[in-house]
Amino acid sequence: MRSSSDMRSPSESHAGERPLRLLFIGDVVGRAGRTALFAHLPELRKNWALDFVIVNGENAAGGFGVTEAICDEFLQAGADCVTSGNHVFDQREALVFIERQPRLLRPVNYPPGTPGRGANLYAARGKQILVINVQGRVFMEALDDPFAAIEREIGACPLGSGCDALVVDMHAETSSEKMAMGHFVDGRASLVVGTHTHAPTADHQILVHGTGYITDVGMTGDYDSVIGMEKEEPLRRFIRKTPGSRFEPAQGEATLCGVAVEIGADGLATKIAPLRLGGRLAQTWPEFWGKLSAG
Ligand SMILES: [Fe+2]
Ligand SMILES: [Fe+2]
Repeated sequence: MRSSSDMRSPSESHAGERPLRLLFIGDVVGRAGRTALFAHLPELRKNWALDFVIVNGENAAGGFGVTEAICDEFLQAGADCVTSGNHVFDQREALVFIERQPRLLRPVNYPPGTPGRGANLYAARGKQILVINVQGRVFMEALDDPFAAIEREIGACPLGSGCDALVVDMHAETSSEKMAMGHFVDGRASLVVGTHTHAPTADHQILVHGTGYITDVGMTGDYDSVIGMEKEEPLRRFIRKTPGSRFEPAQGEATLCGVAVEIGADGLATKIAPLRLGGRLAQTWPEFWGKLSAG
C-alpha cells in the first residue's frame, strides 16, 4: 500500500515552518446553528490564525439543505469550504448554484452526472488542500461505493505529490463505516472527519500512520433537541408511528462543535483536539492554540 512517506512532499524544502492550522465544524443546524457559527467563527479564525476552515452545511437552511445566500454567508464568516451530505439538495436551488460555487461540495459518490463536485483543491498559505466529501451506505440511501470513490480521488491527487493536505468528510450513519474509512486512508489523508449523526464522539486521535480522525465531530446546533430538531415531532413519530407536523430546528442556544487539527510538512496530522463552544455541552477547545479570549 502506498504511504505518504514514499512520496516527496512539495513542502519538504520549507521544513521548520509552522504547521497548517485547520478547523472543521460539524453540521450547522438551522438558525440556532448559523447564529453560533457567525458569533464565533470570525473571532476563532483571527485569534487562532487559522489557515483553513471547513463547515458542514447540509442542515443549515431550516434543518434541510443549504441555500446560496447561506452558503455565501458561511464563506464570508470565514469558511473556505462548505461540505454537505444526504440533505445537500433538499433546497432545490442547490441543484443549480452548486455548479457555480466551487467551495460547496456534495458527496463524491453520487451517480455520474449529478450537479456539483465532490472534491476540490483549494489554496491556503501557499499550500494546496484537497477536500473530499463522501457518503456512507450503511442505513442510508445507497450511493456508489464510498471506498472506491475515495481510492479514485486520492489516486488522482495524492497527499505529498498532488496536495499538501487532504481532508475527508465521511458523512455516514454508522461508526463502523466511518472508522473503516479512517483506517482505509490512514497515512494517505491528513484528516478524516465523521459527520451526519449530530453527536460528538470522544475518539479523536491520530491513527497509527498519521491521519487525524474523529468518528463524529458533532452538530453545531441546539442540543436540547433530537439531533437538532424540536423534540415533539420526532418523539411523536417514534411513539405513535404516524407523522403529525414538519420537523422544525430547535431554537435554543447552539453548541458550536468542531475538530482542530495541525498538519505538518508531510501532510499528516501532528495534533488534534475537539472544540465545543456555547450552548449546553461541556466546553472544550484546543489548548495547543491558546485559551479563548472571550465567548
Ligand atoms: Fe447533518
Ligand atoms: Fe446527513
